[in-house]
Amino acid sequence: MKEKLEQLRAEVLERLEGIKDKKELDELKIKIMGKKGQLTEILRGMGSLPAEERPKVGQLVNQLRQELEERFEKAEAVMEENLKKARFALETVDVTMPGKKKRVGGLHPLNSVLESIIDIFVSMGFDVVDGPEVETDYYNFEALNVPSDHPARDTQDTFYLTEKFLLRTQTSAAQIRTMEKRKPPIRIISPGRVYRADEVDATHSPVFHQVEGLVVDKGITMCDLKGVLEQFAHEIYGPETKVRFRPSFFPFTEPSVEVDVTCGECGGKGCRVCKGAGWIEILGAGMVHPNVLSVCGIDPEIYTGFAFGIGLDRLTTTRHKISDIRLLFENDLRFLEQFSR
Ligand code: PHE
Repeated sequence: MKEKLEQLRAEVLERLEGIKDKKELDELKIKIMGKKGQLTEILRGMGSLPAEERPKVGQLVNQLRQELEERFEKAEAVMEENLKKARFALETVDVTMPGKKKRVGGLHPLNSVLESIIDIFVSMGFDVVDGPEVETDYYNFEALNVPSDHPARDTQDTFYLTEKFLLRTQTSAAQIRTMEKRKPPIRIISPGRVYRADEVDATHSPVFHQVEGLVVDKGITMCDLKGVLEQFAHEIYGPETKVRFRPSFFPFTEPSVEVDVTCGECGGKGCRVCKGAGWIEILGAGMVHPNVLSVCGIDPEIYTGFAFGIGLDRLTTTRHKISDIRLLFENDLRFLEQFSR
């Protein structure tokens, strides 16, 4: 009997060594200690022993039971501890690891300058309207009082799609579309892309951007034009900037002006940026030609207005000291990231 118990003990201890998971452990426990387990079996067999041996054997069996119970308990505890350790290892957060940075996009410099232009005009009560980039000859030229023999109509300057359709050469087309739909008082700006068959160089691109402006109401004069555009220039370039109005010519405005501001780089002394002039041209403007008002069904005897066309690309390059307009269109991230806010 004693040998049997010794053998069982050795067997259990050996098997406990090799156990890998909780299920195996539970199975072994039942097999040994369960109701029909090997140890219980031995206990039952005690009935056949002579009466004087029973207490001694009983003591041995109980000792073994106690020992095995303890060992099972310990094995269980070790197993649980290992499981916990494994889970912790899996869930560990290394707080010294560098974080994952979320890359956020930024505004293209053209768009951020456009946004500040829009803010300035919206604060003066202007609406923003949109116009198509594919225009008809009527909206781009004819209704704007551009005569049919005007050099701008030449195929060398304008991208014609068909005889009637073209890529707009100026946002001024939006003036006509607006005046057809709205009656005075009108106060709008219309930003967008325009196209001209220009040779590409540091200051010219076949695609560029303008922001058109139009005000039509009773009693609008050149003073309003000067006031609004001076205010605009001061807000964009700073209050110390001087603004100059030069007589010019556009078929759809009379009188017409070109507006220059003192060069932000040299303050007007003359430098590389302003090519020694001290001034930088930023827009064309004028009082809306009576013919243009009439064509849109607005009586020029009652209403007057002014219009302007801002060169957005020029404004952006001068404001950010960008030396070449082509940089605005190449989408080189190393360039663009310098402007993301
Ligand atoms: N459309 C003109 C240009 O492209 C600019 C302009 C707009 C001039 C409105 C006067 C009034 O040069």
